[in-house]
Amino acid sequence: MTSTLIRGRLLSFNRAPQTIDDSAAYFYESDGALLIGDGVIKTSGPYGVVKAAAPDGITEIDHRPHLIMPGFIDTHLHFPQMQVMASYAANLLEWLNTYTFPEECRFVETAHAERIAVHFFDEMIRQGTTTATAYCSVHKASADAFFAESLKRNMCMVGGKVMMDRNAPQGLLDTPDMSYDETRAVIADWHGKGRNHVAITPRFAITSTPEQMEVAKSLVSEFPDLHVQTHLSENRDEITFTCELYPEAKDYTDVYARYGLLGPKSLFGHCIHLSDREADAMSETGSVAVFCPTSNLFLGSGLFPLRALTRRQKPVRVSVASDIGGGTSYSMLKTLDEAYKILQLQGERLNPFDSFYLMTRGNAEALSLVERIGTLEPGTDADLTVLNMAATPAMALRAEVVNSLADELFLLQTMGDDRAIVETYVAGRPAKSSLGAD
Ligand code: GUN
Ligand code: ZN
Repeated sequence: MTSTLIRGRLLSFNRAPQTIDDSAAYFYESDGALLIGDGVIKTSGPYGVVKAAAPDGITEIDHRPHLIMPGFIDTHLHFPQMQVMASYAANLLEWLNTYTFPEECRFVETAHAERIAVHFFDEMIRQGTTTATAYCSVHKASADAFFAESLKRNMCMVGGKVMMDRNAPQGLLDTPDMSYDETRAVIADWHGKGRNHVAITPRFAITSTPEQMEVAKSLVSEFPDLHVQTHLSENRDEITFTCELYPEAKDYTDVYARYGLLGPKSLFGHCIHLSDREADAMSETGSVAVFCPTSNLFLGSGLFPLRALTRRQKPVRVSVASDIGGGTSYSMLKTLDEAYKILQLQGERLNPFDSFYLMTRGNAEALSLVERIGTLEPGTDADLTVLNMAATPAMALRAEVVNSLADELFLLQTMGDDRAIVETYVAGRPAKSSLGAD
């Protein structure tokens, strides 16, 4: 077993913080260390204690004065949309039809999918994101490219071949039968290979016929442990169109409920305009609403009611995500910076501990993967992000007057981006510094 000792300031969450002063919600060690072996955190604690327990002559990597945290987790993005980002559109449906669908058609070409997959994983690592939940395109080749690259890098990834059989260009449509066969093939080829997880991925109700939704329902009952991902209640016109397509449903959420798609492994992107009834249905089934701040602002979709969803009598589980390419930044720091502003506009606060909890343990809990990722607990995978609050001249100047951990986190979130990521470890391997060297 090759072991490494990684030294620095450690921060990891035990649970969601209740207030900015809730120091019991996290573990902070000002001179800490992690003993890593076989890609797993073996010991975590004060440097002196961890060093004493480590084998003689162990390799030490000293990241002081930087902060070592669990790798960031992004619970919703689209890997075939790297070249859709920054497309000028008035709203969601125009953006999808004008830019996104034509771009995704290109993923019929295996070579294109493989090229973008390399860029995608490089970018995740550059940004300190070690787990992402991704939509591939409708083409099985795109899922193959995504999971092959993830396996090569030994990353913990969730992904799915998109199912869509109407209301999109011909080159982006499957059929109910094809979507069943190809999703099954993706599961057989990739689920559980390395650290890969396959998600059942009907894009959204507008692009699936009732027959395809029946297929999604069958897949969920055949594979009840798999994640499910789709979009819900992002845009007013989308909601109206969905209700026209499914007139028998009580509302948008009920479309998915009727096909058995709600549940604790189900992630619903956006959920901005849910009614009380819909939020109750989400809560009762343990479904997760995914907050995508930069995308919601960019597409003018609306302000995600984070507090209204989490503070209600029947709380809804939430997570945070970039939603690339509707989103405008790969950085989870930037994503939470925009989340903060969305709450400000609603007269609410998002304290920096909340934000860093959400990017790490919170998102791991949303994915039901907290036993493996999202913390610095011994026994979990050594996926880490190392953060420098003085990464740019402007940050360094501001850092001179930082005098608490809360201030440091808030500075990182507000002014930081990929430049603040000193190193990203994937299963104990320094991945950012070796980008391009593989
Ligand atoms: N709804 C259906 N597909 C998409 C997508 O690709 N991005 C966003 N933001 N919303 C969607
Ligand atoms: Zn999306």
